[in-house]
Amino acid sequence: MSQQWLLLALLSAFAAPSTAGDSMTATNSLSDGGGALVSSNELYKLDFFGPNNSNRRYLGIWYHKIQVQTIVWVANREHPILDRTGVLNFTENGTLVILDQTGTVFWSSSSATNTSSPVARLLDSGNLVLMDGAGDTNVFAWQSFDHPTDTHMPGMKFGWDLRTGLNRYLTSWKSADDPSPGDYTIMIDVHGWPQVLTRDLSVVTYRTGPWNGIRWNGVPKLTANSIYNYTYVSNNDEVYYMYQLSSDAVVARLFLDHSGVFERVVWDNGRQLWTKYLSGPNDMCDSYGLCGPYGLCETDTIPICNCLRGFSPKSPSDWNLREAKGGCVRNTKLGCGEGGDGFMKLSDVKVPDSSNATVDETMGFDECAKKCLMNCSCTAYATSNISSGIGCLNWFGDLIDSRTYPNGGQDLYVRLAASDLGMYIHLAMKQQP
Ligand SMILES: *[C@@H]1O[C@H](CO)[C@@H](O)[C@H](O)[C@H]1NC(C)=O
Ligand SMILES: *[C@@H]1O[C@H](CO)[C@@H](O)[C@H](O)[C@H]1NC(C)=O
Ligand SMILES: *[C@@H]1O[C@H](CO)[C@@H](O)[C@H](O)[C@H]1NC(C)=O
Ligand SMILES: *[C@@H]1O[C@H](CO)[C@@H](O)[C@H](O)[C@H]1NC(C)=O
Ligand SMILES: *[C@@H]1O[C@H](CO)[C@@H](O)[C@H](O)[C@H]1NC(C)=O
Ligand SMILES: *[C@@H]1O[C@H](CO)[C@@H](O)[C@H](O)[C@H]1NC(C)=O
Ligand SMILES: *[C@@H]1O[C@H](CO)[C@@H](O)[C@H](O)[C@H]1NC(C)=O
Ligand SMILES: *[C@@H]1O[C@H](CO)[C@@H](O)[C@H](O)[C@H]1NC(C)=O
Repeated sequence: MSQQWLLLALLSAFAAPSTAGDSMTATNSLSDGGGALVSSNELYKLDFFGPNNSNRRYLGIWYHKIQVQTIVWVANREHPILDRTGVLNFTENGTLVILDQTGTVFWSSSSATNTSSPVARLLDSGNLVLMDGAGDTNVFAWQSFDHPTDTHMPGMKFGWDLRTGLNRYLTSWKSADDPSPGDYTIMIDVHGWPQVLTRDLSVVTYRTGPWNGIRWNGVPKLTANSIYNYTYVSNNDEVYYMYQLSSDAVVARLFLDHSGVFERVVWDNGRQLWTKYLSGPNDMCDSYGLCGPYGLCETDTIPICNCLRGFSPKSPSDWNLREAKGGCVRNTKLGCGEGGDGFMKLSDVKVPDSSNATVDETMGFDECAKKCLMNCSCTAYATSNISSGIGCLNWFGDLIDSRTYPNGGQDLYVRLAASDLGMYIHLAMKQQP
């Protein structure tokens, strides 16, 4: 080797002492201030950080080239290291661990390779994966995409592996500079007909509505384009939502902010900031159950809470005080077996909470109405797939958290006693000029 080569080699060793490429093996470790993993497309970086220069140290993943540090994943969010002696290392059985100089374990991957040649790699997707370096490198013993913090990344499955019980959901940060788990979560709820729910501890605060074959029923602005597409999979093995970006030049993410708002943002490189594309809740009517059982929230009426037609405020005095949580009650009891019931059609709505709804994905529209009429406790029906019109959803019990949209949503058929139905049709006719 010529002297010049040696000099160059030495220089580059000094110029880049910290980066270890995209992978770490059993012979390396990653120490705070002494290295980082960078994905091979240079989009993502794994390193230790202290939010807002605090001395609480975390191992996290963020965008390598974006100046505004934006953390998309945190390993030890519940156990910050209070000095700069943190190290990411492997145990003998191939578990990834974070230790400090005293050997105290602050975090560990929930599964191991069980081999002596473990490799941790930061993939181009921002997924930190653990594999057996001597085995199949497409098989992951553990991956950060299975354990998200507050961010849903492109290519990541958001939702359930029903075979293993794994639920990939987001938990907010406690505050803008504290990654420890906050009170808000957002997840796919698989009770009844699946829908996405945001909760403040155990209280539901927001609902996207169920998947309607095209999008989440309560997110009318969700549309695919040449850059952003998405898939929803619901079968016996899995229920998940995933989105993908067609180009690395576009940087976008979905996250649950510390105040419980779910946002989809895109990086604006010109202005060097994140711009909001979508969010939920988006307005007052997105506030879960605001108008109570059988209420209908409409942003263009004053007050915004109304009763479904055929229903009246349960407590008119509360209702007049704009306290609508008590909701509405039927004007006329259902006829049930007497055959005296029918359906009132509501268009462009977010369908009610579907956690007690049943579905028959092969049933057509006419049969769906009949099926609902045949069961005394069925209160509404709708198609489960607006794209094909096939699939039958039946609701049982109270109808909660329905709203209208100026544009979007879908048709909902609410069961009413024939006499109320007649009155509604009569009213509708009277309103015609
Ligand atoms: C990292 O793991 C290796 C192999 O198990 C071990 O020799 C080394 O001491 C560990 N380093 C730290 C800082 O714990
Ligand atoms: C691997 O080693 C860690 C620490 O030594 C231990 O806590 C863990 O139970 C082991 N895991 C397996 C799968 O053997
Ligand atoms: C490692 O061993 C544990 C405990 O036996 C097991 O649960 C886990 O599936 C194994 N991991 C792999 C990648 O084989
Ligand atoms: C960071 O710290 C500064 C000074 O203490 C404070 O004004 C700012 O709000 C903090 N930023 C965040 C995101 O918390
Ligand atoms: C979405 O885009 C990705 C990346 O361009 C592509 O690989 C994938 O096939 C697309 N999926 C759908 C459902 O269009
Ligand atoms: C679903 O049924 C359970 C049990 O009857 C009830 O507690 C809950 O309030 C119902 N949820 C909705 C949204 O109707
Ligand atoms: C009505 O539907 C409910 C919910 O699916 C079910 O539990 C009940 O058995 C049904 N009743 C009749 C009479 O079919
Ligand atoms: C909805 O119907 C379309 C056909 O129009 C079909 O391609 C799609 O798979 C259906 N979606 C679901 C979730 O069943």
